[in-house]
Amino acid sequence: MHDGVGQAPVIAIDGPSASGKGTVAARVAHALGFHYLDSGAIYRALAHAALQRGVALDDGAALAALARQLDLRFDGGETYLDGLPCGAAIRSEEAGRAASRIAALPAVRAALLDRQRSFRRPPGLVTDGRDMGTVVFPDAELKVYLDADVHERARRRYKQLIEKGLDANLDQIEQDLRARDALDAQRASAPLRRSADALLLDTTHMSIDEAVSVVLRWWEGRQPR
Ligand code: C5P
Repeated sequence: MHDGVGQAPVIAIDGPSASGKGTVAARVAHALGFHYLDSGAIYRALAHAALQRGVALDDGAALAALARQLDLRFDGGETYLDGLPCGAAIRSEEAGRAASRIAALPAVRAALLDRQRSFRRPPGLVTDGRDMGTVVFPDAELKVYLDADVHERARRRYKQLIEKGLDANLDQIEQDLRARDALDAQRASAPLRRSADALLLDTTHMSIDEAVSVVLRWWEGRQPR
């Protein structure tokens, strides 16, 4: 429980790819007037920077050094790398796969810890990722594990791509999601898992609005009366 003393409160939302956690987390942050951190964007931007600079995606030491000096900024929904917008580039499936590869390296995860924790500022932070509640903010005031059936997650991702006028193949998307889930859940370092103190929110049959309302209700339920 946040008592107004010490650190700003954190709402940590973890879950698999395309579960809708990013949209839900951003909307909850907006509703509460809290800061928002998309931790996946940090891994994606680091992978993108590594590809640009020719750093091998399995070179933990070089990637960790790059992670420490990365000029990365978030502003108004856009991500800036070395002062240049990179939002579209880091959203590609290729960037997601590369992010997942480097995210399996313990040196990379360690190098990004302080950067992620620096987003914890008053009046509070809502953050989403894979290990926000388990590793980065183990003392978060509210932890949510947001999940949805893999068919439904694939269908949502497919719809997003088609709406953007991009080519998409539903079966391929589902295969990619399964592969990324497996990589994220089976790695030794900070694997994707629901911690015992995280509340489960299955959004398979839920709209974004409903999911946002549930998280806000849980948050209100934790406030002192
Ligand atoms: O959430 P998003 O799909 O943008 O994340 C991209 C990849 O970054 C994930 O597949 C995962 O491997 C990694 N990641 C992570 N820990 C986080 C956030 C993302 O390992 N907290």
